[in-house]
Amino acid sequence: VSVIIDAVRKTGRPMLRDFGEVAELQVSRKGPADFVTAADTKAEQTLRELLNKARPGYGFLGEEGGLIEGTDKTHTWIVDPIDGTTNFTHAIPHFAISVGLERKAPDGSAEIVAGVTYNPVMNDLFWAEKGKGAYLNDKRIRVSGRKDLSTCLFSTGLPFLGKTGHGQSIKDIHAVGQRTAGIRRLGAATLDLAWVATGRYDGFWERGLEPWDVAVGMLLVTEAGGTVTAVDNDTDPRSGKQIVAANGEIHGQLRKILQDA
Ligand code: IPD
Repeated sequence: VSVIIDAVRKTGRPMLRDFGEVAELQVSRKGPADFVTAADTKAEQTLRELLNKARPGYGFLGEEGGLIEGTDKTHTWIVDPIDGTTNFTHAIPHFAISVGLERKAPDGSAEIVAGVTYNPVMNDLFWAEKGKGAYLNDKRIRVSGRKDLSTCLFSTGLPFLGKTGHGQSIKDIHAVGQRTAGIRRLGAATLDLAWVATGRYDGFWERGLEPWDVAVGMLLVTEAGGTVTAVDNDTDPRSGKQIVAANGEIHGQLRKILQDA
């Protein structure tokens, strides 16, 4: 994990210079409201160079550049150079660099064995290694222990222009909102999951995410003692298509509410 920590810290420095200078940043679109800034592209490039130098031959799956296969077919970096790009372009200090390492087993199954989510503005570095717990900077983190849904705070993500599932999101919010203490939408899925791992949120769900949005966060939540599944309990949650993560006390109830919504 130290290789990843070193790479995200080095990548975060120039990003801080660009943050808040939105007018001077080149912003283009991947979809009607799906933005990519020069900072995203630059960060992905820097991460690729640093990680490749430290571990030559590993594959690299990046949000911006897609999959670049390595000579080592067992290991692949899964990278979101800026999760929360829209926040970044609006000078909202809630975004993160997210890098996970996926390892394939001989039977073809794959798991994330190490990962880091780093918000350079807040200097919040969330990290985890499989079987070794989850940490925020140098402190061990754990999911919350709340059992009573009426006291629980949740976070979610909402579709925007060009995405589908707006109607379902309204149903989800209606169903969860009337049974719980509140719902937030801060705009960076990897941080939503990291905040479940710290216990700030009791749970998080979102439909329509991608593997790089959830890879590290899933490891953080499970290493912090929480539970992560798909809403239907069948789909692989690593696809991000319908993820629900929460402390184990309430995960089942949240999943059921969403499935019924
Ligand atoms: C986005 C954020 C957001 C989520 C979107 C994602 P990006 O990631 O995680 O919270 O609602 O669906 O696309 O595009 O900024 O890396």
